Amino acid sequence: MAAAERKFLFLLGSTRPDGNTEQLARRAAEALPEGVRQEWLRLTDLPVPDFADLRHTGDGTHPQPEGNLRHLLDATLDATDIVIASPLYWYSLSTPAKHYLDHWVGWLRLPGLDFKARMAGKTLWGVTALAERDQSVADPLIGSLRHSASYMSMRFGGVLLGNGSAPGQVLADEVAMKEAKDFFSAVQEVSEGDSILAG
Ligand SMILES: Cc1cc2nc3c(=O)[nH]c(=O)nc-3n(C[C@H](O)[C@H](O)[C@H](O)COP(=O)(O)O)c2cc1C
Repeated sequence: MAAAERKFLFLLGSTRPDGNTEQLARRAAEALPEGVRQEWLRLTDLPVPDFADLRHTGDGTHPQPEGNLRHLLDATLDATDIVIASPLYWYSLSTPAKHYLDHWVGWLRLPGLDFKARMAGKTLWGVTALAERDQSVADPLIGSLRHSASYMSMRFGGVLLGNGSAPGQVLADEVAMKEAKDFFSAVQEVSEGDSILAG
């Protein structure tokens, strides 16, 4: 796919602005090829209703999303690449990031939307800052995104990890800064290959 056809949606899932996750994501985005479009949304700026599981209530459909939820849905559908930029919270996704993903379940059941078919083939990426040095503690978050991509027949681009506690500390993680430069360069490979496409 040509660069101009790609659109990256960065969903900032920290509960504080300009934190480590955001700084790491911005560093990675700097290396995106020219022409690739980017949209950045801070999830805490876009509060949405609590998610309610209505799958087995009435006819199982969810109400049409409005306001911020509609905005998030439209931005999601408009992107070729979705980047969940979530700090590691209790070894997994932050509340705003998880809440956004929970709403996918409602979108899957919106009549006439065809959400699953329209998500298939997009690429899901993760960017995560964590305080611990042992990166294996982020395995639950990585697994959550990988399995979610698989469930949705999306491609999985992987998760960029960076170390830091107070905002800005991630910039001192030299390995993460180096990895950030190349992180999205797998974009062509990931997008054009089919080996990691889940059935
Ligand atoms: C609620 C909460 C839970 C956290 N859980 C973890 C954790 O499980 N493992 C870890 O390494 N760091 C944990 N941290 C530390 C953050 O991941 C770390 O400070 C990170 O840099 C925050 O990213 P941000 O600056 O983008 O918000 C936690 C922080 C908070 C506020």
